[in-house]
Amino acid sequence: MYNFLLGLHSGLRYIVLLLLGIAIILSVTALFGKKDYTQTNRKINLFTMIATHTQLLAGLILYFFSPLVQYGNMGEAMKNTIARYWTVEHAVLMFFAVALITVGHARSKRGALSINKHRAISLYYGLAVLVIIVAIYQSGRPLFGMSVGNS
Ligand code: HEM
Repeated sequence: MYNFLLGLHSGLRYIVLLLLGIAIILSVTALFGKKDYTQTNRKINLFTMIATHTQLLAGLILYFFSPLVQYGNMGEAMKNTIARYWTVEHAVLMFFAVALITVGHARSKRGALSINKHRAISLYYGLAVLVIIVAIYQSGRPLFGMSVGNS
């Protein structure tokens, strides 16, 4: 079960990163090119949010299976860099990234003008992707590539 969940969560990161990349490129180019907010923009932005929420759910389930997560012994976990990262830091940073994406998507829906919609996506999705990259970099795992899940 653990290996399956880790593989799923690990693989979903590519979909999340790919969709975030597409959404950001489309919104930034549309913002500077003063283009309308199209159905393509709306769909990509929505799929990106759905993918990150799915990743969040997979992460939450994985949290209870991972041998690196030690929520039952927080005191000890805090003293160990790896345990602290997987027990606290990863989840907090990723929750923050997903919150940014959720707020960005909500703002893109609320904005009356195309420019406001593109700006919301560029800003919030842009910040979220930075948080995700920093979080993965901090884990010591490759940004692209699978690991066996023991560090
Ligand atoms: C956008 C959200 C997220 C992304 C992009 C993400 C990304 C990743 C990546 C790249 C890995 C390493 C996989 C590997 O080494 O093959 C990982 C592992 C993990 N993530 Fe996430 N994650 C996200 C959200 C979450 C959340 C919200 C939680 C928990 C509440 C979580 C819990 C974990 C756990 C427990 C591991 C596995 C540690 C292990 O046993 O190796 N993740 N995540």
